[in-house]
Amino acid sequence: MESKTAELKLQELRKQIDEHNYAYHVLDSPRISDEEFDRLMRELIQLETLFPALVTADSPSRRVGGKPVDVFREISHVIPMLSLENVFSEGELRDFFQRVKRSAGADSLSWVGEPKIDGLAVSLSYEKGLFTGGATRGDGYTGEDITHNLLTIKSLPLKLKEKVSLEVRGEVFISKSSFQQLNRARESRGLPLFANPRNAAAGSLRQLDPRIAAERPLDIFIYSLVYLAGEQPGDHWEALQYLRELGFKVNSHVSLLSGFDEIMDYYREMERKRNELFYEIDGVVLKINDYQLQEKLGATSRAPRWAIAFKFSAEEKITSVEDIQVNVGRTGTITPVAILQPVRLAGTVVKRASLHNEDILQEKGVMIGDRVVVHKAGDVIPEIVRVIAEERDESVKPFVMPKVCPSCGEAVKRLPGEAALRCFNPACPAQVIERIIHFASRAGMDIVGLGESLSRQLYEAGLVKDVGDLYSLTEEKLAALERMGEKSAQNLLQSLEKSKKNPLYKLLYGLGIRLVGERAARILAAHFKKLPHLQNASLEELTLLVEIGPGIAASVREFFRQEAASKIIEKLEKAGVNFFEETGKRDEDNTLQGKAFVLTGTLEGYSRQEVKELIESRGGKVLGSISKKTDFLLSGDNPGSKLDKAKSLKITVISEGEFEKMIRKK
Ligand code: IVH
Repeated sequence: MESKTAELKLQELRKQIDEHNYAYHVLDSPRISDEEFDRLMRELIQLETLFPALVTADSPSRRVGGKPVDVFREISHVIPMLSLENVFSEGELRDFFQRVKRSAGADSLSWVGEPKIDGLAVSLSYEKGLFTGGATRGDGYTGEDITHNLLTIKSLPLKLKEKVSLEVRGEVFISKSSFQQLNRARESRGLPLFANPRNAAAGSLRQLDPRIAAERPLDIFIYSLVYLAGEQPGDHWEALQYLRELGFKVNSHVSLLSGFDEIMDYYREMERKRNELFYEIDGVVLKINDYQLQEKLGATSRAPRWAIAFKFSAEEKITSVEDIQVNVGRTGTITPVAILQPVRLAGTVVKRASLHNEDILQEKGVMIGDRVVVHKAGDVIPEIVRVIAEERDESVKPFVMPKVCPSCGEAVKRLPGEAALRCFNPACPAQVIERIIHFASRAGMDIVGLGESLSRQLYEAGLVKDVGDLYSLTEEKLAALERMGEKSAQNLLQSLEKSKKNPLYKLLYGLGIRLVGERAARILAAHFKKLPHLQNASLEELTLLVEIGPGIAASVREFFRQEAASKIIEKLEKAGVNFFEETGKRDEDNTLQGKAFVLTGTLEGYSRQEVKELIESRGGKVLGSISKKTDFLLSGDNPGSKLDKAKSLKITVISEGEFEKMIRKK
C-alpha cells in the first residue's frame, strides 16, 4: 500500500474507532460488537506498524499501554488543585449556606449539585483540541505527570470535537463491578487485595508501566473547566454542558438547584440512588454556579469558599474492644487507643480507634471488653460513637492512663489547660520514631520508601538517632537491616538524595515543630527565605507575620533554642540539604515554557516590567509585535491596534484576570 492510501485509511480507521469508543465509554450505548471493535483496532495497529511515520498523537492506538516511564515527572499546577471542605449534617450545611449568602451579598443563589465521586482527582490539558497530558493532584501545587496511564482511559478523549486549548479537572475511578473483578483476579494470583475502588484507581495511576493501567478498567468523570483560551462559558453549568459537547464524560446526575430545600432533596435523592450507581460516591458536591460570585468568594489555601462536599452519613458497625493501649506521638502526647475486634467499615478493615485523651475516654466511658458502635469520622478516622451499655457484663476492665511513658519510662505530665498527657523526654524512642516518620512524610521531605516500619527499624538498629542521621545512611549500613534488599536500599538512598533539594517549607514542616503545620511552614519559608534567618528570628518578628499567632511564634523560638535542634540542623547542612526557599523545585516553574506573549493596553495590577518578569520567570517570552508566532495577546484597558491584528490572526486574547489564573500558584 502506498503511503498516501495508508494515510487515508488510517484517518478513516481512527475516526471510526473514536466514534465507537465514545459511543461505548462515554454514551454507554455501543454500536458494534466487541469483536468488531477489536478487529478495527488490530487493523489500525497493523497499519501503523507498517507506516510508523504516520502515527499521530491522537491515535487511539496510544491507549493500549505504551512504554514504561522511568520516573514520574513533576508538574506544577498553574491553577492550584484545591480540595473541598466537608459538612456532614443538614445543620452544618445550613451554616455554610448562611455564610455564603452573607459574603455573596445575595439572597437567592444558583447552585450546581454533583455526585461526589470516590476516586482520584486529576488535571488534564488539551492544546488545539488534542490531549497533551495530565497529572495527579499531589499537594495541590505540584503533582505527578501520569499522562502514560491516563492515555489508557477509554472515556478520556484524545481529541476534542473543537480545536480548543483548555485545562479540565476530573475524577478517575474504577466501577464497583470492575473493582470486584480485579480483586477476585488478584486473590486467585495470591496478590494483596485493594481495600476499596479508590485505592485500586490510585494504585493503577501510580504505575510506571502503563500496561498495568491498561489492564485495569479506569474511567473518568470531568467536573470542572479551569482554564479555556478564548471565549468563556457564563457559568459552571454552561461549562459542564460545553465539556459534554466537546466529548468529555460528564456525570449525568449533575443538577441545577436553587434553594436550600431543593439542595436537601437532591442530597436525599442521591443518597437513595447511591447503591444503584455503577461507581462509588460518598456524598454530593454543591458549587455556586456563577463564576463571578465564585471569584468574589475566593478560596482559602485548602479549599474554595464557593463549594462544599456534603458527605453521606457514615456507616456504623458494632464490634468489641479487645484492649486499650497508649500511643506516644511525635510531640510526646500520650493517646489512648482502643484495639478493636477487626470490623469492615466504609471500605476498610478497622482494627483501632483513637480515644483522643483522658477526658474523652472518661466521657465515653469505654472499658476493655465493651461492645461498642464505631463509625468513621469524616469518613476516614475510625471512632467509637458509644458503648452499648446493655451488653456490658462483669468481665469488663476499666483502663487507667499510665503515670509513666510506656516508651521511655519517664513520668508523664498534664500541663494546665491542656487535655493531653505528655512525655517531656526529647530522647524518648517512641517520639524519635514518630519524628522520623513525620520528617519523611509526603507533606514533609517526601522520602519515598521510608515509612513506619523502616523508621522503627532504623532507630532500633541504632542507625538513625534523629532525622539528621538519615543523610549519613549508606548501602553498607542498610544492608545490615532485616528484610532490606539491595534494590530497596538503593531506592531509599535515591529518595533521600532527591529530598535534599526540597524547598525550605517542606523541611520546616518535616522538622515537626509543634503547631507548625503545612500552612504555617509555607508562610514562614516565604517570609524568611533562608533557614538561618528563621533560626535567628525574634518573637516580635515572628508574631508580626499574618496568620502566625503567638502560640506558633513561641513554639518556633522554643524549637530553635534547643541544642538537639541545632545539632540536627548542623547535620542536615553538612549533608547538603537545601535551606533556601528560592532554589527549590517549585521555583523551577516552566509552565509558560516556549509561550510567546504580546502586551497591549493598561493593566490594573501590574507594570509592564512586572508582567515581563512574571512571564519570563516561567519560561515564556514577551514580544513587541503580533505575528503568527504569538500565542497570547494580554490585553488591558484601552487596547491598541494590536488587538485587531491579533483577532485577524486568530490569536488567543486574554484578560488580566485570565493571565492571573495562568500564573497564579496560590
Ligand atoms: S470539585 C475546587 N467536584 O473530591 C473544587 N470534586 O474532597 C475541587 N471530587 O479533590 C473539586 N467528585 O478529588 C469536585 N463532582 C466533584 C467531585 C470532586 C469527587 C473529589 C475531588 C476533590 C475531592 C475533595
